Amino acid sequence: MIIKSIKLTNFRNHSQYSLECNNETSLILGENGCGKTSVLEAIYILTRGKSFRATDSDILKRGTNFYRIELEFTNGYKNIATYDGKNKTFIVQDKKTKRLPKKNKYPVVLFLPSDLNLISHSPSRRRDYFDRIFSQFSETYSTSLSKYEKALKQRNELLKNDFLTKEALFSWNILLAKYGADLYNFRKNFIQEFNHKITNIYHFIADNNDEIEITYKTDATDMTDNKYLHQLEQSFDKDSYLGHTSFGIHRDDYIFQFNHEAADGSASRGETRSIILALKFIEASLIYEKLQLKPIILLDDVFSELDETRRHCLVKNFKDNQVIITSVEMITEHNL
Ligand SMILES: Nc1ncnc2c1ncn2[C@@H]1O[C@H](COP(=O)(O)OP(=O)(O)OP(=O)(O)O)[C@@H](O)[C@H]1O
Ligand SMILES: [Mg+2]
Repeated sequence: MIIKSIKLTNFRNHSQYSLECNNETSLILGENGCGKTSVLEAIYILTRGKSFRATDSDILKRGTNFYRIELEFTNGYKNIATYDGKNKTFIVQDKKTKRLPKKNKYPVVLFLPSDLNLISHSPSRRRDYFDRIFSQFSETYSTSLSKYEKALKQRNELLKNDFLTKEALFSWNILLAKYGADLYNFRKNFIQEFNHKITNIYHFIADNNDEIEITYKTDATDMTDNKYLHQLEQSFDKDSYLGHTSFGIHRDDYIFQFNHEAADGSASRGETRSIILALKFIEASLIYEKLQLKPIILLDDVFSELDETRRHCLVKNFKDNQVIITSVEMITEHNL
């Protein structure tokens, strides 16, 4: 699917905004704070269902009482989202829903400047990053994740209780074990798929022989529901003392290896950028393999962060996708 136009009302600093995407690459140009990332955010809401950075009340233009986003595609489809300060409504092909229906979601590859720090960021940032990607690969992943998170929240609430019995946790343990084991298997397999591609793609970007690998780090090893349940039960005393769940896939991490050493600390700035670029290319290529859809590429102000070789690579790799770029400086063929 190709986006034809975007219209915004009372969205962040935009009272009224519209953009026609005349061809497959669009450039949103403007100074800091003029509302470029907000346009990508609006596209993300109408393709993925929610913002990548905030809640609807943060997004609603201050001093106004509703926002509206409209996205028209070249095939004639139109998606609309409105928010009245309390409720969000999606209108997709004239049907109103509270959430964007799964069948109306469309994959996007989002590239934010902060992604360039992914390797040295906190484990929770890396988990969120990969969760967002894996949720696009598989709706089952996305559903299991939200069920896991709900169960974890409930279990942690109970753990704050001073007179807690093991039995009180049982039903939550069962849910955590079921969805936790599923998510563990998904993550293990998806990371393996990334690893099959990453070194080759890195060579395409960096033109050398460095070897890249992502290690999936988890408490769980070859986990089944039963083993997971057993581990949760074993951690009862510790968890009651701590007041939260100390075992499980909510503590996972992804460690980037550069020539068999932790990339955080050994890879240079440029090498780190190439690894992140490789991640984006793999994301797009796995989306295509799994869903037979060409994702829309949203590049938020990342050109200024990349050197000429890497900019070229980015453009070349996504030449068959719709690409929407934001930038503070004019981008021409000359400075690509
Ligand atoms: N709810 C809101 N109501 C009004 N203005 C808002 C709201 N939320 C954010 N803003 C403002 O909207 C502006 C646009 O933010 P946005 O992040 O889209 O800008 P940007 O063009 O991407 O900036 P930069 O180049 O610095 O990344 C900012 O000045 C921000 O302070
Ligand atoms: Mg921005």
